[in-house]
Amino acid sequence: MAKVGGARGIFARIKKWISGLNLRRNVGIDLGTVNTLVYVEGKGVVLKEPSVVAVDKTTDQIVAVGNEAQALIGRTPANLETIRPLRDGVISQYDVTLRMLQYCIRNACGHMLLPPRVMICVPSGVTEVEERAVVDAAREAGAGKVYLMEEPVAAALGAGVDIDAPVGRMIIDIGGGTTDIAVISMGGVVVSESVRIAGEKLDDAIARYVKREHGVLIGIQTAELIKQRIGALYTHKQVRSVEVRGRSAQTGLPQTVTLSSKEMLEAMAEPVSAILDVVCSVIERTPPELLGDILKYGIIMTGGGSMVNGFDKLICKVTGVPVRVAEDPVCCVAKGTGIALRNYKQLPEGTINLARARRDRL
Ligand SMILES: Nc1ncnc2c1ncn2[C@@H]1O[C@H](COP(=O)(O)OP(=O)(O)OP(=O)(O)O)[C@@H](O)[C@H]1O
Ligand SMILES: [Mg+2]
Repeated sequence: MAKVGGARGIFARIKKWISGLNLRRNVGIDLGTVNTLVYVEGKGVVLKEPSVVAVDKTTDQIVAVGNEAQALIGRTPANLETIRPLRDGVISQYDVTLRMLQYCIRNACGHMLLPPRVMICVPSGVTEVEERAVVDAAREAGAGKVYLMEEPVAAALGAGVDIDAPVGRMIIDIGGGTTDIAVISMGGVVVSESVRIAGEKLDDAIARYVKREHGVLIGIQTAELIKQRIGALYTHKQVRSVEVRGRSAQTGLPQTVTLSSKEMLEAMAEPVSAILDVVCSVIERTPPELLGDILKYGIIMTGGGSMVNGFDKLICKVTGVPVRVAEDPVCCVAKGTGIALRNYKQLPEGTINLARARRDRL
């Protein structure tokens, strides 16, 4: 018996020594509609690529992922198809998302003795079925332990907010597919709302405007370029313009059109006012004690959509609350997922929804 006890003791010590070696990597993934980012503890953001996969339709094989696949959009021969496997922040094509996650995890971790602990963010309004799909895909893609957290909480952490402080902080994350707005205090979400209106809806609105006002049909990529080059939601002194090519809606022939930044507020008015309505509705539902904190500390904006020129100023004008765009807004969510894994080393085995677990504890 003494011998067995001794062997057990040695085994326990070896197990402790192995776990001390930290053979399991901590990986945070921002699985976005437009971009997928991977954060590895100790290294930072190691991968930032478009959420695009190119598939050979005849063999069903994946031929390119990320930047390589993005470069193929609109240029693929008949047998190739470029797919964006996420729609409005959630998985719309499971198998393709799985392959994209495999690519991310392999690239981020290389060969490791133990599969990584992976924290993935999901929009705050997702259903349990949508959450399950993320967890299953991550597991199949090679994650050892999978955790989920809400996108605005990750965004706040990544923007440098101390989410555990007893202070109300408001975050607006405008991505490509979803806008997540949340008021956070003591590590929990007090009020939140997620709408499936974000950067891509702004692109659609610009394309519709150019057709309506200039009679020219443009592609979504051209509309995105217009948004990024001259998109402006607040009057400013320097008027910028851009010349783009499209197809005349009347003749069907190529036509060039010059657009000015002065037109952009009108072009993007519909989706922008829908986002503003949600911001106001979250503020209206915020307890008065926390509103004082929000007025003091201001609203923080993250996500690529927050980079539309003047979005912060417009929100400030409408709400009366100071607004600032976080540093490196596209990377905040990925950084936040990584920070959450570092801060919560003692998470229970298996899948947990960090946001829900914390809410239940409060
Ligand atoms: N400089 C810029 N100006 C305006 N918009 C920008 C700029 N850079 C990126 N964007 C927009 O940001 C959006 C992508 O942002 P982000 O990477 O945060 O989205 P995502 O996380 O993939 O989406 P989601 O969180 O909705 O799933 C796109 O719509 C893109 O056009
Ligand atoms: Mg996002």
